[in-house]
Amino acid sequence: MPPHSSQSVVILGTGSYLPERVVTNDDMAKLVDTSDEWIRSRTGIGERRFAAKGETTSDMACEAGRKAIESAGIAKEEIDLIIVATMTPDMPFPSTACLVQSKLGLPNVTAFDIQAACSGFVYELSIASAMLRSGQFKRALIIGTEKTSSILDFEDRTTCVLFGDGAGAAVLGCGDATGVGILNCTGGSDGSNPSVLCQPAGGSAIPASIESIQARQHFLKMSGKEIFKQAVRVMGQACMDAIEPFGLKKDDINLVIPHQANMRIIDSLAKRLGIPMDKFHNNLDRYGNTSAASVGIALDEAYRAGRIHSGDYVLLVAFGAGLTWGSTLIKWQ
Ligand code: ACO
Repeated sequence: MPPHSSQSVVILGTGSYLPERVVTNDDMAKLVDTSDEWIRSRTGIGERRFAAKGETTSDMACEAGRKAIESAGIAKEEIDLIIVATMTPDMPFPSTACLVQSKLGLPNVTAFDIQAACSGFVYELSIASAMLRSGQFKRALIIGTEKTSSILDFEDRTTCVLFGDGAGAAVLGCGDATGVGILNCTGGSDGSNPSVLCQPAGGSAIPASIESIQARQHFLKMSGKEIFKQAVRVMGQACMDAIEPFGLKKDDINLVIPHQANMRIIDSLAKRLGIPMDKFHNNLDRYGNTSAASVGIALDEAYRAGRIHSGDYVLLVAFGAGLTWGSTLIKWQ
């Protein structure tokens, strides 16, 4: 039976997975002309994790997903919806979500991918909560997972030092209490200038060819400066759009979990919002930018570290290729 519209959608559990292999800035300096000093001062990144050879985006998703199911304290058979956000799927099709469905042993579950790059986790929170509220599904497993190392150009120092691999997950379900859980989801997109952040080849526009490979078009390309300015503006707006309808003020927010792209972006966002940095959960120094996985990993880390309590207002916010952006306001159950 469909839930009453006031029924809440809550986060029942969280999980994350980071590959074992630690790659320091000094390791990156052996590949390209860069330094620990440049990377730390311009981005806040100290090291990142890269997946092992043969370890796939779906493998990492399953590890994070299993932990989220365990943390939710439910049987895996209770999951009836899987959504995976990634820009580095195991293959263009079938979806990574279907591979996860099979590897987790969840027959007949509805499973599909979404592509919103680094905004993937907040986009899938919005989609899953709407699908749960519809009454068609009862327990959703959402996962943001990336093997960014599979599309990085290790001859381009302006991009390869920024990204890392990993996965973050959450289990969502309907709750009886009202006024808690996922209170609001906001988001937007602007596809007018796709080349600022893209993987040009491998799709229908530029199918794989000897020429596309020679031109290194299968790697991630980014104009960092253009994205920087937009990121601060759209993330700031997404946060205000999420909290203002609830009459909340910046002081009411207990924890902000921002997409981990660059410490200077997070600093500027904190200043724009007027929320002190000690209310932000950051792990950029250890993992770099894990794209769609970043918000899920940080949420799991903050929750397990005891930084989130019942009744807390938690604000998630992200932006990424597209451009896409979005935020989620949660009152922890
Ligand atoms: N090591 C050493 N020098 C470098 C490196 C490096 N790794 N990379 C660039 N430089 C050099 C540049 O060549 C340039 O040299 P020049 O002045 O001689 O031309 C100089 O450093 C300054 O480069 P800028 O691009 O101006 O550096 P900036 O301070 O803007 O920082 C950065 C670059 C870190 C990429 C920043 O612009 C940024 O973080 N932008 C946002 C990126 C982002 O958040 N992307 C989100 C992706 S999310 C998703 O959906 C995947």
